[in-house]
Amino acid sequence: MAIPEATLVGSFEKKIPLVSFGTAEYPFGASAHSVKDVILDAIKIGYRHFDSAALYQSEKPLGEAVKEALSLGLIKSRDELFITSKLWCSDAHRHCVLPALQKSLKSMELEYVDLYLVHWPVSVKPGEYELLVKKKDLVPIDIKAVWEAMEECYKLGLAKSIGVSNFTCKKLQALLATSKIPPAVNQVEMNPLWQQKKLRELCREKDIIITAYSPLGAKGTLWGKNWVMDCEGLQQIANQKNKTVAQICLRWVYEHGVSLLVKSFNKERMKENLDIFDWKLSSEESRMISEIPQRKGFPGEEFISDDGPYKSLEALWDGEI
Ligand SMILES: NC(=O)c1ccc[n+]([C@@H]2O[C@H](COP(=O)([O-])OP(=O)(O)OC[C@H]3O[C@@H](n4cnc5c(N)ncnc54)[C@H](OP(=O)(O)O)[C@@H]3O)[C@@H](O)[C@H]2O)c1
Repeated sequence: MAIPEATLVGSFEKKIPLVSFGTAEYPFGASAHSVKDVILDAIKIGYRHFDSAALYQSEKPLGEAVKEALSLGLIKSRDELFITSKLWCSDAHRHCVLPALQKSLKSMELEYVDLYLVHWPVSVKPGEYELLVKKKDLVPIDIKAVWEAMEECYKLGLAKSIGVSNFTCKKLQALLATSKIPPAVNQVEMNPLWQQKKLRELCREKDIIITAYSPLGAKGTLWGKNWVMDCEGLQQIANQKNKTVAQICLRWVYEHGVSLLVKSFNKERMKENLDIFDWKLSSEESRMISEIPQRKGFPGEEFISDDGPYKSLEALWDGEI
């Protein structure tokens, strides 16, 4: 079954597939798998949207997989794929944005990305691409200037749409107040244990698509927690429906009309994660999930510093945590 899609504000012609393939595996650039082969398997299985980032070091194998998919005839043209990449914090400076996108495009050997995102509302001094940023390198982000450079990327046709990631309602509203091209997407953590109700309402009102990352809680990763997959309430629903906890999480996100990214480098789990379209949660199951106590899995402690722009998680998340 083809994956359902949604229309993006600002994108010329492309729709965004609602279930997409995450390519972040830690340690970045050191996967035990051939990431190119994993992505080729994902294309064979039916995934069409691939989420990458300068940080993940998955851009090169993604580009190689696109090339091979074309030569194998798995796709007829690159246009059949939706490719996302992201600007890392060390490039979140006006003068670094365009060169960073050009560098990403060169790694992927592509002429454009379908979506380019500001990875975090955070700047660090130019140089390194590390998730555990050095706190001494944290500097205030000039989001207006960074966004102007993102708009330039869009105007040049190098990014068919532009957006942000990890932005709160407050940061989105500030950006909307000054941007000429509004963000098409806000990519954020979202799963049954971090449901993002307020952000979803704002984004619906402003025509911004939410893309949910870590829909399974990113169990087993540097940034993830086990508590989504180990949640008893979700296990109970999964047992009574003869589905897996992963499928319950993904279906729950999908039923909220947002797009989602899920990462599995295992073929069987890749298929399992797409098997969510021909059944639904009952209203009682949705109610049970809506009552699950909320806790954010990835608060971003590494971006907090006494000497940096965000001195507390409250400040980073504008109290929305
Ligand atoms: N914008 C941001 O700041 C940000 C942050 C985090 C992630 N992301 C993006 O979102 C993507 C997805 O999020 P994520 O990787 O953090 O977390 P996730 O998709 O919630 O979870 C990934 C973990 O779950 C396992 N898994 C996948 N399917 C499974 C299934 N059916 N049953 C059991 N385990 C399963 C994977 O292992 P196996 O591979 O072994 O199956 C992996 O350990 C990332 O890859 C990345 O592209 C963006």
